[in-house]
Order: sequence, then structure tokens, then C-alpha cells
Amino acid sequence: MNYPTPHIKARPEDFGQTVLMPGDPLRSKYIADHFLDNPVLVNNVRGVQGYTGSYKGVKVSVMASGMGVPSIGIYSYELYNAFGVRNIMRIGSAGAIRADIGLRDIVIAQGASTDSNFAHQYHLDGQFAPIASYEMLRNAVSSCEELGAKFHVGNILTSDNFYTDDDGLPDVMKTNNAWAKMGIMAIEMEAAGLYMTAARCGKNALCLCTISDQLVTGEALSADERQTSFREMMLVALETAVKLEK
Ligand code: HPA
Repeated sequence: MNYPTPHIKARPEDFGQTVLMPGDPLRSKYIADHFLDNPVLVNNVRGVQGYTGSYKGVKVSVMASGMGVPSIGIYSYELYNAFGVRNIMRIGSAGAIRADIGLRDIVIAQGASTDSNFAHQYHLDGQFAPIASYEMLRNAVSSCEELGAKFHVGNILTSDNFYTDDDGLPDVMKTNNAWAKMGIMAIEMEAAGLYMTAARCGKNALCLCTISDQLVTGEALSADERQTSFREMMLVALETAVKLEK
């Protein structure tokens, strides 16, 4: 695939091997300003700000995915195929659907189950199981351990729906309860699209999320608390990026 692409106006050398990917473009700028040394803006098509700088001497990029599987599908496809990016790490937030997963905990998505039809394009005669890169996963786990972060590794749900029409259904039929019975830890909206794109491109992907909403108890983080728990996940992500470079 040639560059520039329809959604990224940059050159391959503008990106590091690893791209950190929050959903929100403003968060991408915040990360560049607060965590990277000498950040340079490398893309701004549609306001999807992409920056490259360094962390502990390693060239690292950060660019937003937008919300949902179609959006992360586009950005990850173009980064992998036109810009030579090897590793994409989503750094997002998620809603916990199990009582034992607390606010501020980090969930590391070993697998990303989904209600999205994204896999339809691959003409598979069955269900594809979207999984994380093992190399990225084990480095993220060791970074969490070193930083003393509370984390859980397992399956999450990538949903196409933020607002689910469960009104009036008995509890046993509510969507979140059904997924929780299968051990799903939390819900977000992008990981499965990223994992499938990485699989098809022969590249690496991982999704880390902090729990911003506890959907069983109804608790949610305040704006301030979102910032501090986000900071811990950022350090995990950056330390992981450094380990991937070795
Ligand atoms: N649903 C989907 N995505 C989310 C949620 C949620 O409840 N919370 C944070 N990201």
C-alpha cells in the first residue's frame, strides 16, 4: 500500500515501530505533551493527531483510533500496510461487567470476543478468535508487575453498541450478564477490530484498558480519577514499548 493514505498524511519514517493508540485525539496530544520527549506532530488528517517522540531513548508514536471497530480498523490497516508499523497498542477505557473487576484496575485483553461483523470480510467458514500478540502481552504483564499495577488478563467484549436496548428484559437475558457468564471481564469498542487487522497483516496488537465504569455496581470514575488511573496505564504501555524494542 502506498503513502500517504486516505486517512494518514505522513511518511513511514515518521512512525516508531510501536504506536500507542488511545481513542481520543486530544488524549493523543496529552500523551505526547506529558510522556514523550521531543514530540513532533506527524499526522493531522481529520484532526486525528499523531505524534512521534521518544521515551527512555526509544522512538514511540501515539495516534488516536477514533471510536469503534470501523475506525480502528482503518487506522491500524493503514499503519501496518503503508507505514511499516509493527506493534499497535490500544490504550483505552472499558466498563467492567464482573463484580471482581474494580474501578481503576487494568484489564489486558488476551482475547477480544465481539458482536461486530468485522470478520465477515475474511470469508472464514467458522468463528475467528481475535487474540493479542503474546510478545506484547507478556511484556505488558511484566511491566504491570514491575510498576505494582493491579491488573487482570483475560477475555473482553468488543461491542458495536455503547447503548444496548435491554430495557424490560429479565436479568438473565441482559447482554452484559450473558457475556459475564462466559468470563468476559469488561466491554469496550475497538480491540477485536485491531486484533483481526493485525492477524490479517501479520503484525502485533495488544489492548490495555483501565476500568472507568463498573457496570455491575453503577460506580464510575470522576474526571480527576480518570486522569490518575490513565497515567498508570500509560507508564505500563511505554515500558512495554521499550521492552519490545530490545
Ligand atoms: N461500554 C463500552 N465502552 C466503554 C464503556 C462501556 O460501558 N466504558 C468505557 N468504555
